[in-house]
Amino acid sequence: MSSDRVVDLLRKAYSDEIETVMNYQTNAIVLDGVRAEEIKESLRADIQEELGHAEQIGQRLKQLGAQPPGSGEFVARQDSLQPPEDSTDVLAVIRGVLDAEEGAIETYRDLIDAAEEAEDPVTEDLAVTILADEEAHRTEFRGFEKEYQNE
Ligand SMILES: [Fe+2]
Ligand SMILES: [Fe+2]
Repeated sequence: MSSDRVVDLLRKAYSDEIETVMNYQTNAIVLDGVRAEEIKESLRADIQEELGHAEQIGQRLKQLGAQPPGSGEFVARQDSLQPPEDSTDVLAVIRGVLDAEEGAIETYRDLIDAAEEAEDPVTEDLAVTILADEEAHRTEFRGFEKEYQNE
């Protein structure tokens, strides 16, 4: 039905989604200033989407007879998305978000390939759907990057 590689990638994706929720939430709180308002609002909206991704991935793991990881197995990867020392440094957060979205895009692309190879069209379909969301997030934050680096 599916492969170890599919399960491993689903578990990685789940963990990354949860880390993304934590860092988007933290940065949405930490950032200060008028220029940060739009970014904070966008982060808050994305938190709900990323949480939805984690839920869907966790349910798929369960359907495959596996489990999503708990915090004991958690490995932090999002170095560039840590809250900036200068709480008005909006651009640092935007760039961290872009790194996180790039990482997610890479993982979902790998998952699509692995699921296709394992002849698991349900996981493949889920990965394609989530990949589309991550690409939309990346486009939105590329726009913010352009805007904020011109200021
Ligand atoms: Fe996501
Ligand atoms: Fe995303």
